[in-house]
Amino acid sequence: MLQRPFAVWAPRESTVPEIDWNTLRSGAAAMAAQAYAPYSGVFVGACGITEDGRLVRGCNVESASYGLTLCAECGLISDLVATGGGLLVAVSIAAGDGAPLAPCGRCRQLLHEHGGAALLVDRASGPCRMGELLPEAFSPDDLVTRAGR
Ligand code: THU
Repeated sequence: MLQRPFAVWAPRESTVPEIDWNTLRSGAAAMAAQAYAPYSGVFVGACGITEDGRLVRGCNVESASYGLTLCAECGLISDLVATGGGLLVAVSIAAGDGAPLAPCGRCRQLLHEHGGAALLVDRASGPCRMGELLPEAFSPDDLVTRAGR
């Protein structure tokens, strides 16, 4: 029987903190002000909260070699892992105007890995679940169940 080769965070509903969306939104706006986006002019910030109540953040960092650009969510995931990991329970992503920004496809996958389908993602119309943004996601479980010829 194949085993999961690594630790994957699983939701524990009982310990999910109260979500203060104002804090997440203002955190995302503050991070957007730090973004390095001289090529697109799209300044993006992301702020999330973990199951144990830590705030994690990121901003986009562009490159003169355009394809190397790091989205704000990449920075947030790096902050999450660097500060102890754990499960992400809610995230706000905003552009420089402060309004919610839809995460790109790659970042939906990254966020799903660390927050699962239950991750709350802010939207202009109100928070939704990651499962709605990325249905039938490929997940770490597939690495175990689908390995082999
Ligand atoms: N961007 C993000 O930071 N996150 C997303 O989910 C979508 C796009 C950034 C990347 C690039 O610096 C700029 O927005 C324009 O694509």
